[in-house]
Amino acid sequence: MKNIILIGFMGVGKGSVAREVSKHSQYITIDTDDLIESMENKKIKNIFSESGEEYFRKLEKNIAKWLEKSVKNTLISTGGGFYKQENLKKIGIIVLLDSPFDAIIARIKKHPNAAKKLKKRPLLSDLEKAKVLYNERRPEYLQLADIVIDVTEKSAEDCSKELLKKVKKYAYKS
Ligand code: S3P
Repeated sequence: MKNIILIGFMGVGKGSVAREVSKHSQYITIDTDDLIESMENKKIKNIFSESGEEYFRKLEKNIAKWLEKSVKNTLISTGGGFYKQENLKKIGIIVLLDSPFDAIIARIKKHPNAAKKLKKRPLLSDLEKAKVLYNERRPEYLQLADIVIDVTEKSAEDCSKELLKKVKKYAYKS
């Protein structure tokens, strides 16, 4: 089994889909933001406010190097900006969770913990700026992805089943 790397914009549901995939397969899941938080013993929003985004991106780079060298057979969910790591293709099969910006924001707002979900993401604090970021990133996400899953209005469980089916087909072809 190759690693699967889940990429996609903040709030698209990478964590929820990853949890469903591990329920329905043998994949164990790890999350790059969780690794960073435990290494630093700090929440992402505090890393941003105390040390700045550039420092956070350096931590992501260290994680990317470690993933390439040391992690196998794993489902890796990533922060929305992790896709910029230049060794991404060497880590595993890249799966993009895709959805329009407005649908992503609507999904977050519908959640019972919406305020917390928005607060923990510094780059979502200004929705106008977040939309600009989304528009910049989306073509780059699409270009990198080996597999694309449109998650709009689908449950995490359905997305996970679609993901496993597409990964199997992809692995068979390559
Ligand atoms: C970021 C996304 C966040 C987190 C950090 C930066 C980004 O992760 O890594 O706040 O640059 O898009 P999620 O995509 O899980 O929200």
